Amino acid sequence: MREISLHILDIVQNSVVAKATEIEVDICEDKKLDKLTVVIRDNGCGMSEEFLKKVIDPFATKRTTRKVGLGIPLLKMAAENTGGSLEIQSKEGEGTVVTAVFGLSHIDRQPLGDMAGTMLGLFTAYEDIRFLYKHKVNEKEFFVDTKEIRNVLGDVPFQAPEVYLWLSDFLKEGEEELNQMEV
Ligand SMILES: Nc1ncnc2c1ncn2[C@@H]1O[C@H](COP(=O)(O)OP(=O)(O)OP(=O)(O)O)[C@@H](O)[C@H]1O
Ligand SMILES: [Mg+2]
Repeated sequence: MREISLHILDIVQNSVVAKATEIEVDICEDKKLDKLTVVIRDNGCGMSEEFLKKVIDPFATKRTTRKVGLGIPLLKMAAENTGGSLEIQSKEGEGTVVTAVFGLSHIDRQPLGDMAGTMLGLFTAYEDIRFLYKHKVNEKEFFVDTKEIRNVLGDVPFQAPEVYLWLSDFLKEGEEELNQMEV
């Protein structure tokens, strides 16, 4: 994968498949620590400890009864290639937290990619899911809770053209402001 945003999309899709009703996407770029941390938290079905081990390292088992997924191993590889790491906490019936840490200035770190477009796609594709999106760049923070937007909109869908355009501009502006901050 070329961009971190594509990994995020993949991990969020896992949460959707796990029937989450709330998904948190948290990105933190910290110049001082030289780290880019991505946390994706959901309240979906979760995984057993045993299953989780196989998910993180799909080649550790010769079991063929399950399709070998690559979303998580690819993210793990991308993070580790930058001196970072991947960690997953999960509890059956409670949810899952995926944390990926990247070396921010590492030469092999993929660009973050289009987070405004990624979140817009998710918000509109899964209107029934509450998304909490936070992106921090050093001291500055952009935060969106789709429940707050939903409360204002009432029954008007995110996909309604005027709402979609507004949402798109809102996300783009939020992201742009974060980057203007960079010194
Ligand atoms: N947030 C989650 N909640 C519950 N189960 C999960 C979650 N994330 C992953 N899993 C389980 O781990 C498996 C592997 O995930 P992974 O993203 O690596 O592959 P995949 O989604 O099966 O396939 P793909 O290569 O298309 O991503 C999933 O099939 C699912 O069973
Ligand atoms: Mg997946």
